[in-house]
Amino acid sequence: MWYLPQCHLTHTKKLGYAMNLEYYNPTRLVFAPGALTRLGALARPHGVKALIVTGGGSVKRNGTFARAVASLKAAGVDFAECAGVEPNPRITSVTRGTATARAEGCDMVIALGGGSVMDAAKVMAAAFYYDGDPWDMILHGQPKPYIPTKALPVITVPTLAATGSEMNCGAVISNAKTQEKSFVQSECLYPVLALVDPELTISVPKDLTAYGVCDLITHVTEAYFNGVDGTPVQDRFAEAVILTAMEWGRRAIAEGNNLEARTQVQYDSIVALNGWVNSGTNGGFPVHLIEHTISAYHDVTHGAGLAAINPSWMRFAARHNTKKFVQFAERVFGLKSNGAEDLECALAGVDRFEAFLKSIGCPTSLSELNIDDKLFSRYVDDTLRVLHDQNGRLPGRPAMSEADIRS
Ligand code: NZQ
Ligand code: ZN
Repeated sequence: MWYLPQCHLTHTKKLGYAMNLEYYNPTRLVFAPGALTRLGALARPHGVKALIVTGGGSVKRNGTFARAVASLKAAGVDFAECAGVEPNPRITSVTRGTATARAEGCDMVIALGGGSVMDAAKVMAAAFYYDGDPWDMILHGQPKPYIPTKALPVITVPTLAATGSEMNCGAVISNAKTQEKSFVQSECLYPVLALVDPELTISVPKDLTAYGVCDLITHVTEAYFNGVDGTPVQDRFAEAVILTAMEWGRRAIAEGNNLEARTQVQYDSIVALNGWVNSGTNGGFPVHLIEHTISAYHDVTHGAGLAAINPSWMRFAARHNTKKFVQFAERVFGLKSNGAEDLECALAGVDRFEAFLKSIGCPTSLSELNIDDKLFSRYVDDTLRVLHDQNGRLPGRPAMSEADIRS
Protein backbone atom coordinates (compact mmCIF):
# COMPACT_ATOMS: atom_id res chain seq x y z
CA MET A 1 0.00 0.00 0.00
CA TRP A 2 2.88 2.29 0.46
CA TYR A 3 6.33 2.72 -1.04
CA LEU A 4 6.79 -0.95 -1.83
CA PRO A 5 4.85 -2.11 -4.87
CA GLN A 6 2.78 -5.14 -3.93
CA CYS A 7 4.72 -7.27 -6.39
CA HIS A 8 7.54 -7.14 -3.86
CA LEU A 9 5.26 -8.50 -1.18
CA THR A 10 3.08 -11.07 -2.89
CA HIS A 11 3.34 -13.31 -5.91
CA THR A 12 0.03 -13.23 -7.66
CA LYS A 13 -0.90 -13.94 -11.23
CA LYS A 14 -0.42 -10.83 -13.35
CA LEU A 15 -3.75 -9.95 -14.93
CA GLY A 16 -2.83 -6.52 -16.25
CA TYR A 17 -5.55 -4.94 -14.21
CA ALA A 18 -5.98 -4.45 -10.51
CA MET A 19 -7.85 -7.20 -8.83
CA ASN A 20 -4.82 -8.58 -7.00
CA LEU A 21 -4.95 -6.81 -3.72
CA GLU A 22 -4.97 -7.20 -0.01
CA TYR A 23 -6.12 -4.35 2.19
CA TYR A 24 -5.53 -4.02 5.90
CA ASN A 25 -5.53 -0.95 8.09
CA PRO A 26 -6.24 -1.42 11.79
CA THR A 27 -5.69 2.23 12.81
CA ARG A 28 -8.71 3.76 14.50
CA LEU A 29 -9.27 7.26 13.09
CA VAL A 30 -10.89 9.89 15.29
CA PHE A 31 -11.14 13.07 13.22
CA ALA A 32 -12.76 16.27 14.50
CA PRO A 33 -11.85 19.88 15.16
CA GLY A 34 -11.31 20.06 18.92
CA ALA A 35 -10.61 16.33 19.29
CA LEU A 36 -7.37 16.94 21.22
CA THR A 37 -9.36 17.19 24.46
CA ARG A 38 -10.20 13.48 24.08
CA LEU A 39 -6.56 12.37 24.00
CA GLY A 40 -6.39 11.17 27.63
CA ALA A 41 -9.62 9.18 27.54
CA LEU A 42 -8.73 7.58 24.21
CA ALA A 43 -5.14 6.83 25.25
CA ARG A 44 -5.90 5.31 28.64
CA PRO A 45 -7.04 1.89 27.32
CA HIS A 46 -3.62 1.53 25.67
CA GLY A 47 -1.36 2.22 28.63
CA VAL A 48 -0.58 4.18 31.78
CA LYS A 49 2.67 5.91 30.88
CA ALA A 50 3.28 7.48 27.47
CA LEU A 51 6.47 8.57 25.80
CA ILE A 52 5.39 11.85 24.21
CA VAL A 53 7.49 12.57 21.14
CA THR A 54 7.72 16.14 19.83
CA GLY A 55 9.75 18.15 17.31
CA GLY A 56 11.66 21.40 17.50
CA GLY A 57 9.20 23.20 19.78
CA SER A 58 6.16 24.30 17.73
CA VAL A 59 3.82 22.30 19.98
CA LYS A 60 5.28 23.98 23.05
CA ARG A 61 4.96 27.47 21.57
CA ASN A 62 1.38 27.10 20.39
CA GLY A 63 0.00 25.40 23.50
CA THR A 64 -0.74 22.01 21.93
CA PHE A 65 1.68 20.19 24.24
CA ALA A 66 0.20 21.71 27.41
CA ARG A 67 -3.32 20.83 26.30
CA ALA A 68 -2.31 17.26 25.46
CA VAL A 69 -0.63 16.82 28.84
CA ALA A 70 -3.66 18.23 30.67
CA SER A 71 -5.94 15.75 28.90
CA LEU A 72 -3.60 12.83 29.71
CA LYS A 73 -3.30 13.84 33.35
CA ALA A 74 -7.07 14.11 33.71
CA ALA A 75 -7.36 10.53 32.49
CA GLY A 76 -4.62 9.28 34.84
CA VAL A 77 -1.96 8.80 32.15
CA ASP A 78 1.60 9.63 33.19
CA PHE A 79 4.27 10.63 30.63
CA ALA A 80 7.95 11.00 29.80
CA GLU A 81 9.19 13.17 26.96
CA CYS A 82 11.40 12.93 23.90
CA ALA A 83 11.62 16.44 22.44
CA GLY A 84 13.74 17.78 19.60
CA VAL A 85 13.03 15.35 16.77
CA GLU A 86 14.33 17.02 13.61
CA PRO A 87 12.52 17.45 10.28
CA ASN A 88 13.91 14.51 8.26
CA PRO A 89 14.20 12.69 11.60
CA ARG A 90 17.58 11.22 12.47
CA ILE A 91 18.21 7.69 13.63
CA THR A 92 20.07 9.19 16.59
CA SER A 93 16.79 10.71 17.80
CA VAL A 94 15.15 7.31 17.51
CA THR A 95 17.88 5.76 19.67
CA ARG A 96 17.54 8.56 22.23
CA GLY A 97 13.74 8.22 22.43
CA THR A 98 13.92 4.46 22.75
CA ALA A 99 16.36 4.77 25.64
CA THR A 100 14.01 7.21 27.40
CA ALA A 101 11.01 4.92 26.88
CA ARG A 102 12.93 2.01 28.41
CA ALA A 103 14.39 4.00 31.30
CA GLU A 104 11.01 5.53 32.15
CA GLY A 105 9.02 2.32 31.81
CA CYS A 106 6.70 3.69 29.12
CA ASP A 107 4.05 1.37 27.73
CA MET A 108 2.88 3.46 24.76
CA VAL A 109 4.15 6.22 22.48
CA ILE A 110 2.27 9.41 21.58
CA ALA A 111 3.53 11.40 18.60
CA LEU A 112 2.61 15.07 18.76
CA GLY A 113 3.89 16.73 15.59
CA GLY A 114 4.37 16.42 11.85
CA GLY A 115 5.39 13.40 9.81
CA SER A 116 8.94 13.51 11.16
CA VAL A 117 7.78 13.20 14.76
CA MET A 118 5.26 10.48 13.88
CA ASP A 119 7.82 8.46 11.92
CA ALA A 120 10.44 8.71 14.64
CA ALA A 121 7.83 7.71 17.24
CA LYS A 122 6.86 4.61 15.25
CA VAL A 123 10.44 3.42 14.97
CA MET A 124 11.07 4.14 18.67
CA ALA A 125 8.04 1.98 19.47
CA ALA A 126 9.48 -0.92 17.44
CA ALA A 127 13.05 -0.37 18.64
CA PHE A 128 11.77 -0.72 22.21
CA TYR A 129 11.61 -4.49 21.57
CA TYR A 130 14.79 -4.77 19.49
CA ASP A 131 18.23 -5.08 21.01
CA GLY A 132 20.13 -4.32 17.79
CA ASP A 133 20.72 -0.98 16.05
CA PRO A 134 17.35 0.50 14.92
CA TRP A 135 19.02 1.50 11.63
CA ASP A 136 18.85 -2.26 10.79
CA MET A 137 15.11 -1.70 10.22
CA ILE A 138 15.57 1.00 7.59
CA LEU A 139 16.05 -0.35 4.05
CA HIS A 140 19.41 0.93 2.86
CA GLY A 141 20.78 -1.87 0.75
CA GLN A 142 21.76 -4.18 3.61
CA PRO A 143 21.48 -7.89 2.71
CA LYS A 144 19.00 -8.71 5.46
CA PRO A 145 17.02 -5.79 6.86
CA TYR A 146 15.35 -6.40 10.22
CA ILE A 147 11.62 -6.02 9.67
CA PRO A 148 10.01 -5.39 13.07
CA THR A 149 7.06 -7.52 14.14
CA LYS A 150 6.33 -5.98 17.54
CA ALA A 151 6.01 -2.41 18.76
CA LEU A 152 4.58 -0.45 21.66
CA PRO A 153 1.13 0.96 20.85
CA VAL A 154 1.51 4.25 18.98
CA ILE A 155 -0.98 7.12 19.04
CA THR A 156 -0.50 9.80 16.42
CA VAL A 157 -1.67 13.38 16.87
CA PRO A 158 -0.63 15.14 13.65
CA THR A 159 -0.03 18.89 13.70
CA LEU A 160 0.66 19.24 9.98
CA ALA A 161 -1.32 17.86 7.02
CA ALA A 162 0.99 16.13 4.60
CA THR A 163 2.43 12.66 5.02
CA GLY A 164 -0.50 10.48 6.07
CA SER A 165 1.90 8.82 8.51
CA GLU A 166 -0.79 9.09 11.20
CA MET A 167 -2.71 6.23 9.62
CA ASN A 168 -0.18 4.11 7.76
CA CYS A 169 2.48 1.56 8.56
CA GLY A 170 5.54 3.33 7.19
CA ALA A 171 8.25 5.51 8.63
CA VAL A 172 11.06 7.43 6.93
CA ILE A 173 14.29 7.98 8.84
CA SER A 174 17.59 9.70 7.97
CA ASN A 175 21.14 8.83 8.90
CA ALA A 176 23.24 11.99 8.86
CA LYS A 177 26.48 10.06 9.30
CA THR A 178 26.02 7.90 6.19
CA GLN A 179 23.95 10.50 4.27
CA GLU A 180 21.06 8.11 3.78
CA LYS A 181 17.31 8.57 4.09
CA SER A 182 15.02 5.62 3.66
CA PHE A 183 12.04 3.77 5.06
CA VAL A 184 10.66 0.84 6.98
CA GLN A 185 7.25 -0.62 6.41
CA SER A 186 5.67 -3.17 8.72
CA GLU A 187 2.20 -4.04 10.00
CA CYS A 188 3.29 -3.53 13.61
CA LEU A 189 3.88 0.15 12.82
CA TYR A 190 0.23 0.95 12.23
CA PRO A 191 -0.75 3.34 15.01
CA VAL A 192 -3.52 2.02 17.26
CA LEU A 193 -5.15 5.44 17.06
CA ALA A 194 -4.88 8.52 14.86
CA LEU A 195 -6.37 11.40 16.80
CA VAL A 196 -6.72 14.13 14.22
CA ASP A 197 -7.68 17.65 15.22
CA PRO A 198 -7.43 20.08 12.28
CA GLU A 199 -7.30 23.03 14.70
CA LEU A 200 -3.73 21.96 15.45
CA THR A 201 -2.69 22.78 11.89
CA ILE A 202 -3.86 26.42 11.98
CA SER A 203 -0.38 27.55 13.03
CA VAL A 204 1.43 25.88 10.11
CA PRO A 205 3.04 28.63 7.99
CA LYS A 206 2.20 29.17 4.32
CA ASP A 207 5.28 27.50 2.85
CA LEU A 208 4.95 24.32 4.91
CA THR A 209 1.21 24.19 4.15
CA ALA A 210 2.01 24.34 0.43
CA TYR A 211 4.71 21.67 0.69
CA GLY A 212 2.21 19.47 2.51
CA VAL A 213 -0.28 19.94 -0.33
CA CYS A 214 2.37 18.88 -2.85
CA ASP A 215 3.29 15.87 -0.72
CA LEU A 216 -0.27 14.63 -0.40
CA ILE A 217 -0.91 15.07 -4.13
CA THR A 218 2.28 13.16 -4.92
CA HIS A 219 1.14 10.26 -2.74
CA VAL A 220 -1.68 9.63 -5.18
CA THR A 221 0.04 10.68 -8.42
CA GLU A 222 2.79 8.13 -7.78
CA ALA A 223 0.25 5.29 -7.79
CA TYR A 224 -1.87 6.90 -10.53
CA PHE A 225 0.98 7.21 -13.01
CA ASN A 226 3.08 4.20 -12.02
CA GLY A 227 0.32 1.67 -11.37
CA VAL A 228 -1.20 -0.99 -13.58
CA ASP A 229 -3.98 -0.29 -16.07
CA GLY A 230 -7.60 -1.07 -15.27
CA THR A 231 -8.04 0.79 -11.98
CA PRO A 232 -11.04 3.04 -12.65
CA VAL A 233 -12.12 3.30 -9.01
CA GLN A 234 -8.63 4.09 -7.78
CA ASP A 235 -8.18 6.63 -10.60
CA ARG A 236 -11.33 8.51 -9.66
CA PHE A 237 -10.37 8.46 -5.98
CA ALA A 238 -6.93 9.84 -6.84
CA GLU A 239 -8.41 12.57 -9.04
CA ALA A 240 -10.76 13.55 -6.19
CA VAL A 241 -7.79 13.78 -3.82
CA ILE A 242 -5.86 15.97 -6.29
CA LEU A 243 -8.80 18.27 -7.07
CA THR A 244 -9.63 18.65 -3.38
CA ALA A 245 -6.00 19.45 -2.54
CA MET A 246 -5.84 22.06 -5.30
CA GLU A 247 -9.11 23.73 -4.32
CA TRP A 248 -8.85 23.64 -0.53
CA GLY A 249 -5.06 23.77 -0.43
CA ARG A 250 -5.11 27.18 -2.09
CA ARG A 251 -7.54 28.39 0.55
CA ALA A 252 -5.58 26.94 3.47
CA ILE A 253 -2.47 28.69 2.15
CA ALA A 254 -4.23 32.02 1.53
CA GLU A 255 -6.24 31.99 4.77
CA GLY A 256 -4.30 30.05 7.39
CA ASN A 257 -7.05 30.56 9.97
CA ASN A 258 -9.73 29.03 7.77
CA LEU A 259 -10.60 25.92 9.78
CA GLU A 260 -12.77 24.47 7.05
CA ALA A 261 -9.88 24.65 4.58
CA ARG A 262 -7.48 23.14 7.12
CA THR A 263 -10.01 20.39 7.79
CA GLN A 264 -10.50 19.44 4.13
CA VAL A 265 -6.76 19.44 3.44
CA GLN A 266 -6.03 17.31 6.47
CA TYR A 267 -8.67 14.72 5.68
CA ASP A 268 -7.38 14.67 2.10
CA SER A 269 -3.84 14.00 3.31
CA ILE A 270 -5.00 11.02 5.36
CA VAL A 271 -7.07 9.52 2.57
CA ALA A 272 -4.15 9.97 0.17
CA LEU A 273 -1.82 7.56 1.96
CA ASN A 274 -3.76 5.27 4.25
CA GLY A 275 -3.65 2.58 1.59
CA TRP A 276 -7.18 2.66 0.26
CA VAL A 277 -6.83 4.96 -2.76
CA ASN A 278 -3.66 3.23 -3.95
CA SER A 279 -4.66 -0.36 -3.17
CA GLY A 280 -4.23 -2.69 -6.12
CA THR A 281 -2.42 -0.13 -8.27
CA ASN A 282 0.81 -1.95 -7.59
CA GLY A 283 3.10 0.84 -8.72
CA GLY A 284 6.42 2.19 -7.52
CA PHE A 285 7.13 5.50 -5.83
CA PRO A 286 10.04 6.78 -7.96
CA VAL A 287 9.61 10.49 -7.22
CA HIS A 288 9.65 9.77 -3.48
CA LEU A 289 12.68 7.53 -3.67
CA ILE A 290 14.65 10.10 -5.64
CA GLU A 291 13.55 12.84 -3.21
CA HIS A 292 14.71 10.79 -0.24
CA THR A 293 18.20 10.58 -1.67
CA ILE A 294 18.30 14.31 -2.41
CA SER A 295 17.04 15.03 1.14
CA ALA A 296 19.71 12.76 2.58
CA TYR A 297 22.40 15.04 1.13
CA HIS A 298 20.70 18.42 1.31
CA ASP A 299 18.17 18.12 4.17
CA VAL A 300 15.39 19.63 2.06
CA THR A 301 11.76 19.76 3.21
CA HIS A 302 10.11 16.64 1.81
CA GLY A 303 7.21 18.31 -0.03
CA ALA A 304 9.48 20.98 -1.54
CA GLY A 305 11.83 18.26 -2.81
CA LEU A 306 8.92 16.42 -4.42
CA ALA A 307 7.69 19.63 -6.07
CA ALA A 308 11.15 20.20 -7.52
CA ILE A 309 11.34 16.69 -9.01
CA ASN A 310 7.74 16.14 -10.12
CA PRO A 311 7.61 18.23 -13.34
CA SER A 312 10.72 16.71 -14.92
CA TRP A 313 9.76 13.20 -13.87
CA MET A 314 6.27 13.72 -15.28
CA ARG A 315 7.60 14.99 -18.63
CA PHE A 316 9.78 11.87 -18.85
CA ALA A 317 6.98 9.46 -17.86
CA ALA A 318 4.34 11.12 -20.07
CA ARG A 319 6.20 9.89 -23.15
CA HIS A 320 5.89 6.28 -21.96
CA ASN A 321 2.42 6.31 -20.40
CA THR A 322 0.77 8.99 -22.52
CA LYS A 323 -2.75 7.66 -22.10
CA LYS A 324 -2.72 8.14 -18.33
CA PHE A 325 -1.27 11.62 -18.61
CA VAL A 326 -3.97 12.54 -21.13
CA GLN A 327 -6.59 11.30 -18.65
CA PHE A 328 -4.95 13.45 -15.96
CA ALA A 329 -4.93 16.51 -18.26
CA GLU A 330 -8.57 16.06 -19.18
CA ARG A 331 -10.05 15.12 -15.82
CA VAL A 332 -7.96 17.28 -13.51
CA PHE A 333 -7.40 20.33 -15.71
CA GLY A 334 -10.34 20.07 -18.12
CA LEU A 335 -8.12 19.98 -21.24
CA LYS A 336 -9.40 18.40 -24.45
CA SER A 337 -7.27 15.82 -26.28
CA ASN A 338 -7.24 14.57 -29.84
CA GLY A 339 -7.16 10.99 -28.56
CA ALA A 340 -5.64 8.79 -25.87
CA GLU A 341 -2.10 9.10 -27.25
CA ASP A 342 -2.11 12.89 -27.62
CA LEU A 343 1.31 13.70 -26.16
CA GLU A 344 0.79 17.42 -26.60
CA CYS A 345 -2.28 17.30 -24.37
CA ALA A 346 -0.45 15.04 -21.88
CA LEU A 347 2.40 17.55 -21.62
CA ALA A 348 -0.01 20.48 -21.39
CA GLY A 349 -1.47 18.77 -18.30
CA VAL A 350 2.01 18.61 -16.79
CA ASP A 351 2.50 22.33 -17.59
CA ARG A 352 -0.74 23.08 -15.74
CA PHE A 353 0.34 21.04 -12.76
CA GLU A 354 3.69 22.80 -12.68
CA ALA A 355 1.89 26.16 -12.85
CA PHE A 356 -0.26 25.11 -9.89
CA LEU A 357 2.84 24.21 -7.87
CA LYS A 358 4.42 27.57 -8.71
CA SER A 359 1.21 29.40 -7.84
CA ILE A 360 1.27 28.03 -4.29
CA GLY A 361 4.95 28.89 -3.86
CA CYS A 362 6.59 25.51 -4.42
CA PRO A 363 9.93 25.16 -6.21
CA THR A 364 9.67 23.25 -9.49
CA SER A 365 13.33 22.53 -10.17
CA LEU A 366 16.26 21.37 -8.09
CA SER A 367 18.20 24.52 -8.96
CA GLU A 368 15.57 26.54 -7.04
CA LEU A 369 16.67 24.54 -3.99
CA ASN A 370 20.29 25.41 -4.82
CA ILE A 371 21.03 21.81 -5.73
CA ASP A 372 23.31 21.32 -8.72
CA ASP A 373 24.21 18.10 -10.53
CA LYS A 374 27.72 17.65 -9.06
CA LEU A 375 26.72 14.68 -6.92
CA PHE A 376 24.23 13.23 -9.35
CA SER A 377 26.03 9.90 -9.82
CA ARG A 378 25.91 9.36 -6.08
CA TYR A 379 22.22 10.24 -5.92
CA VAL A 380 21.49 7.68 -8.63
CA ASP A 381 23.61 4.92 -7.02
CA ASP A 382 22.11 5.55 -3.59
CA THR A 383 18.53 5.58 -4.87
CA LEU A 384 18.98 2.29 -6.70
CA ARG A 385 20.73 0.73 -3.71
CA VAL A 386 17.63 1.24 -1.55
CA LEU A 387 15.22 -0.30 -4.02
CA HIS A 388 15.52 -1.78 -7.50
CA ASP A 389 13.77 -4.38 -9.60
CA GLN A 390 15.35 -7.57 -10.94
CA ASN A 391 16.91 -5.58 -13.79
CA GLY A 392 18.51 -3.07 -11.46
CA ARG A 393 16.02 -0.33 -12.29
CA LEU A 394 13.94 1.93 -10.08
CA PRO A 395 10.36 0.53 -9.93
CA GLY A 396 7.90 2.77 -11.73
CA ARG A 397 6.22 3.18 -15.08
CA PRO A 398 8.52 3.02 -16.86
CA ALA A 399 11.06 1.46 -14.52
CA MET A 400 14.00 3.85 -14.60
CA SER A 401 17.51 2.82 -15.53
CA GLU A 402 20.55 4.70 -14.22
CA ALA A 403 20.61 6.70 -17.45
CA ASP A 404 16.91 7.60 -17.14
CA ILE A 405 17.36 8.97 -13.63
CA ARG A 406 20.42 10.93 -14.70
CA SER A 407 18.63 12.49 -17.72
O1 NZQ B 1 9.64 20.52 14.71
P1 NZQ B 1 8.56 21.50 15.01
O2 NZQ B 1 8.99 22.61 15.87
O3 NZQ B 1 7.30 20.83 15.47
O4 NZQ B 1 8.22 22.24 13.62
C1 NZQ B 1 7.84 21.52 12.48
C2 NZQ B 1 8.94 21.36 11.45
O5 NZQ B 1 9.87 22.42 11.53
C3 NZQ B 1 6.81 22.34 11.73
N1 NZQ B 1 5.46 22.16 12.26
C4 NZQ B 1 4.78 21.00 12.43
N2 NZQ B 1 3.55 21.27 12.90
C5 NZQ B 1 3.46 22.61 13.05
C6 NZQ B 1 4.68 23.18 12.64
N3 NZQ B 1 4.90 24.51 12.66
C7 NZQ B 1 3.89 25.30 13.11
N4 NZQ B 1 2.69 24.82 13.51
C8 NZQ B 1 2.44 23.48 13.50
N5 NZQ B 1 1.23 23.02 13.86
O6 NZQ B 1 6.88 21.84 10.42
C9 NZQ B 1 8.23 21.49 10.12
C10 NZQ B 1 8.26 20.24 9.30
O7 NZQ B 1 7.78 19.16 10.07
P2 NZQ B 1 7.85 17.68 9.49
O8 NZQ B 1 7.27 16.77 10.52
O9 NZQ B 1 9.23 17.38 9.03
O10 NZQ B 1 6.91 17.76 8.20
P3 NZQ B 1 6.07 16.67 7.46
O11 NZQ B 1 4.81 16.39 8.18
O12 NZQ B 1 5.98 17.12 6.08
O13 NZQ B 1 6.95 15.34 7.56
C11 NZQ B 1 8.03 15.11 6.68
C12 NZQ B 1 8.70 13.79 6.98
O14 NZQ B 1 7.82 12.69 6.75
C13 NZQ B 1 8.40 11.78 5.79
C14 NZQ B 1 9.28 12.70 4.98
O15 NZQ B 1 10.23 12.00 4.21
C15 NZQ B 1 9.90 13.58 6.04
O16 NZQ B 1 10.94 12.91 6.70
N6 NZQ B 1 7.35 11.03 5.09
C16 NZQ B 1 6.70 10.09 5.78
C17 NZQ B 1 5.72 9.32 5.21
C18 NZQ B 1 4.99 8.30 5.97
N7 NZQ B 1 5.43 7.92 7.15
O17 NZQ B 1 4.00 7.78 5.49
C19 NZQ B 1 5.37 9.43 3.79
C20 NZQ B 1 5.90 10.66 3.14
O18 NZQ B 1 6.02 10.38 1.77
C21 NZQ B 1 7.19 11.17 3.67
O19 NZQ B 1 8.29 10.55 3.05
ZN1 ZN C 1 5.55 12.00 0.65
